[in-house]
Amino acid sequence: MLLEKLAVAPWLVLSKKSKNDEAEGGFKSVALLIGVTGIVGNSLAEILPLPNTPGGPWKVYGVARRPQPSWNAVHPIRYIQCDISDPHDAEAKLSLLTDVTHIFYTAWAPRSTEAEKCEVNGAMLRNVLRAVIPNAPSFRHVSLQTGICHYAESMNPLELKFHEPPLTEDLPRFGKPHFYHTQEDILMDETAKKEGATWSVHRPQLIFGFSPHCVMNIVGTLCVYAAICKHEGAPLRFPGNRLVWESYYMASDADLIAEQYIWAAVDHPSAKNEAFNCSNGDVFKWKQLWKVLAEQFGIEKYGYEEGSEVRLSEIMRDKGPVWDQIVRENQLQPTKIEDVASWWVADAALTILLPLDNMNKAKEHGFLGFRNTKSSFIYWINKTKANKIVP
Ligand SMILES: NC(=O)c1ccc[n+]([C@@H]2O[C@H](COP(=O)([O-])OP(=O)(O)OC[C@H]3O[C@@H](n4cnc5c(N)ncnc54)[C@H](OP(=O)(O)O)[C@@H]3O)[C@@H](O)[C@H]2O)c1
Repeated sequence: MLLEKLAVAPWLVLSKKSKNDEAEGGFKSVALLIGVTGIVGNSLAEILPLPNTPGGPWKVYGVARRPQPSWNAVHPIRYIQCDISDPHDAEAKLSLLTDVTHIFYTAWAPRSTEAEKCEVNGAMLRNVLRAVIPNAPSFRHVSLQTGICHYAESMNPLELKFHEPPLTEDLPRFGKPHFYHTQEDILMDETAKKEGATWSVHRPQLIFGFSPHCVMNIVGTLCVYAAICKHEGAPLRFPGNRLVWESYYMASDADLIAEQYIWAAVDHPSAKNEAFNCSNGDVFKWKQLWKVLAEQFGIEKYGYEEGSEVRLSEIMRDKGPVWDQIVRENQLQPTKIEDVASWWVADAALTILLPLDNMNKAKEHGFLGFRNTKSSFIYWINKTKANKIVP
């Protein structure tokens, strides 16, 4: 029987070994990170195993589809390759993790229509919860990441309409299909089946963090753009419009989101079965961060030029060979430009006005974490450089 299980789940060897660790190290909590190579997943994989993390010592399983990348393998976690959109794969691999106490869910699947997003993302979450919760006797909490688009009538960037800002957690749903709402409903239904199990929802703004596997990595994308401008001796033109250049925005640091996740999961009883906004707590303007980006890449000419608005998805379309040369010349991690830059994300983020939120609910419940957004931006640029993704 054990041999059969090992055929589908070789990490059981690790789990077995970890039982000894457990006896020695006395794990208090066992996390299952779904989306461990994502922008927040990677932060959780770094923070959870630290000796002084609340709720610890933590044993950590991490799930993603691709093989574990080197920048994620530095974290002491047990990596599981699993496609959670496949119910059989999820059941075969995740139902064996009977010691899990907490699920941190940060995966998602982009699709072209909202109906498809609801179907696929709902099924992914359900597959995980149904494979794990009934089989884990000590299961306690699921944390789900959504975003401030929870407060939008539609997720389509061309027809974004939000509630009046500042956005607060008590605002009603608009009533149109929305995959964040589908996920929340599944989260509540599945946790209700297990006595004593609780949930929390975390709604960030645009996330500043590190992960070359992130579908919407704004810092990584802007770093690649800046590296190409520097290489070509071109100015760092702001590829957005004047309104976005001059308006106030909020961001969410990936480590801060991880901290809020952990706080809600272990620390505070009144945080259970609640949804929280999760932003840095300050505001920024892109004209300020653009100067910082130019400085970090040693580019003297930068800024917004009236009447010469550009789209990165257009002007970067043919830059694959340039990127290959930059990678070669600087001995970076071997990557293709389409793997490390999401031009559509930058185009959307730098042309759409996103509403401000408000962190009062999290503060009133006891979460006082914050970040200085300018320092956070520099921190993640440096992390992207230190991991040799950009020069
Ligand atoms: N990024 C942002 O700026 C931002 C801002 C606000 C809200 N959000 C929301 O936050 C949620 C999470 O997004 P994110 O940007 O944090 O995610 P992300 O960085 O793109 O990470 C997604 C993770 O999930 C894994 N994954 C995807 N499909 C999977 C599957 N079928 N089976 C197993 N693993 C799978 C990915 O690895 P593999 O690809 O290797 O499987 C990766 O580890 C989404 O709902 C998103 O809309 C994101």
